[in-house]
Amino acid sequence: MKYRRCGKSGILLPELSLGLWHNFGSVDSFENSMKMAYYAFDNGITHFDLANNYGPSFGSAEETFGEIMKKSFMPYRDELFISTKAGHEMWAGPYGEWGSRKHLISSLDQSLKRMNLEYVDIFYSHRYDPVTPLEETLQTLVDIVRQGKALYVGISKYPKAAAEFAYKYLKEREVHCLLYQGRYNIFNREPEEDILQQTKANGSGFIAFSPLAQGLLTNRYINGIPQDSRIARGGFLKEEQLTEVVLKRIKALNEIATQREQTLAEMALAWVLKDDLVTSVIIGASSVNQLKDNIRAIENCVFSPEELEKINAILA
Ligand SMILES: NC(=O)c1ccc[n+]([C@@H]2O[C@H](COP(=O)([O-])OP(=O)(O)OC[C@H]3O[C@@H](n4cnc5c(N)ncnc54)[C@H](OP(=O)(O)O)[C@@H]3O)[C@@H](O)[C@H]2O)c1
Repeated sequence: MKYRRCGKSGILLPELSLGLWHNFGSVDSFENSMKMAYYAFDNGITHFDLANNYGPSFGSAEETFGEIMKKSFMPYRDELFISTKAGHEMWAGPYGEWGSRKHLISSLDQSLKRMNLEYVDIFYSHRYDPVTPLEETLQTLVDIVRQGKALYVGISKYPKAAAEFAYKYLKEREVHCLLYQGRYNIFNREPEEDILQQTKANGSGFIAFSPLAQGLLTNRYINGIPQDSRIARGGFLKEEQLTEVVLKRIKALNEIATQREQTLAEMALAWVLKDDLVTSVIIGASSVNQLKDNIRAIENCVFSPEELEKINAILA
């Protein structure tokens, strides 16, 4: 594994991090989840990305991770960088989501119990809350660090102006915003508009989620929809997203990947990692074989201008 420095901080993160959004829930095979976590860590993936509501059911990915901690990861706690988040829908009633102090503190306390942890390495505000005063959310992040429940804090999917306010508010209180977590992949290049530069200017790292567009940027759907795929299992990726245009683009990108002697998944990850404004990409996986494939991406993250032009032309 290769490691990159996370903005202006003491933290190095692996170029590939493992996300537990899918395939680690109570509906999934614990055996398979455990094998993937072991394989990741054995191959230098030190960063595991979670959130309160990953599952399904809500909270169960953290429980799975807590089991793995208890069973085997506990002696390696100091070699691991573990995140969780709060802000999306988690429990019933008015305190079960968004950015209030009540939600964030209660949620983190629940997460720590589920994961068998005393603290997380980074705690994120999972989404910008347009109604709660931003000062309330951010002061709660500061207090969480002061309480020792998280070593660092981060923000996810914040619009530019709210992110700017957050970086400054936290800095003034001597709490560094370690990471901005945003969606970034060949199909979704929004962070290039300003978020990547803004993150760097504020000394934070950028960590990309869904770098494979939930599996679209792989060979998974080239010959139809496999029964065990995210689309077929009825997750967040919908069949409607696999339009004819998208499929045509996937096939054309796959040809470029073949010319680079990479799988499409490897090339898609390498494409995100080619930019040194990106600290790490958080991959999802449903099998050890997918992880094996994805880890190979770091071997070649260099693209010629002609390759980049061809990729841009496919997307035009
Ligand atoms: N901050 C946020 O709001 C936010 C939002 C979304 C995600 N995230 C984080 O980002 C992580 C990754 O998101 P994601 O799961 O959408 O990432 P992704 O890497 O874009 O997609 C992962 C899916 O792609 C397929 N796949 C992976 N490697 C493959 C390979 N080599 N060949 C063929 N197919 C492959 C698998 O689908 P199948 O299951 O079909 O095999 C896998 O479940 C999450 O776990 C979470 O930690 C954060």
